[in-house]
Amino acid sequence: MHRKTKVISFTSGKGGVGKSVLLSNVAVQLARQQKKVLILDGDFAMANIDILFGIKAKGSIHDVIFGKKAISDVVVNVHPNVYLIPGGSGIYEMQYLNKFQRRNILDQLSQIGVDFDFLLIDTAPGIDDNVLQLNSASGEVCVVVTPDPASITDAYALIKVQNQKQKDKHFSIIANQVQNEADGLALYKRLSDVTQRFLDVGLDYKGCVPFDLDFSRATRANQLISVSNMFAPANRFIMRICENLNSSGAMAEEKGGLQFYWANLLELA
Ligand SMILES: Nc1ncnc2c1ncn2[C@@H]1O[C@H](COP(=O)(O)OP(=O)(O)OP(=O)(O)O)[C@@H](O)[C@H]1O
Ligand SMILES: [Mg+2]
Repeated sequence: MHRKTKVISFTSGKGGVGKSVLLSNVAVQLARQQKKVLILDGDFAMANIDILFGIKAKGSIHDVIFGKKAISDVVVNVHPNVYLIPGGSGIYEMQYLNKFQRRNILDQLSQIGVDFDFLLIDTAPGIDDNVLQLNSASGEVCVVVTPDPASITDAYALIKVQNQKQKDKHFSIIANQVQNEADGLALYKRLSDVTQRFLDVGLDYKGCVPFDLDFSRATRANQLISVSNMFAPANRFIMRICENLNSSGAMAEEKGGLQFYWANLLELA
């Protein structure tokens, strides 16, 4: 029996809201709970998950697509139980692949997929078609939003376009850089109220993370706070998000896990 893989994308309207850092810390905490996690760095222009884990990837998905490397040579073990497919412009080029190339990449990607509990996809910010496709092929789309008015407006715009173009109706919300839990919940409610009024979508709250300088300090040192300081207060919030991602099984698994993710992505692209 293969494990069912939950496929979750981390996305945002506005850039710099904390997608990559939250996703990476979530991956580490899930791994501590004995989950096997695969990360796809889908931010092809500014791929940086390898750096956040303190390494520099030697290959990327681009090399796999163009037959320069096998997927097994590109996937890096960045932390116990956490593996990374480093990003590269390859994801963008998927739309130009012929049928044979698509089949080949699909075969390669599915070879690594059998054992993972989670596939977490980091996307670029914004509403580029590539981002919409990465999100739409996922079982669960986590929109990261901060109290910055521009972040809220852009999160709304992303949800709207994702709904109109890809017909997605369910979104998860993570409130980042908030003052406290009440602030996080209020931010979620604000976004939820406006989407309910104008769009036919449902938003699910996955939790919040307070603004904490430990994050930016860790990032500057090419570290993750869940690795460098297991006792940092922020970890409690990351753990809560993990619990919610763990328990929101139905939606993430609905589309059939990893195999279907790759198939969807290649067909859509
Ligand atoms: N809760 C937080 N408190 C303080 N700083 C944070 C918090 N979350 C993230 N940061 C910092 O914000 C910066 C941007 O984070 P990150 O790179 O994860 O954002 P992003 O959304 O992935 O950006 P991009 O859109 O460019 O990919 C980093 O320096 C990170 O450490
Ligand atoms: Mg990022």
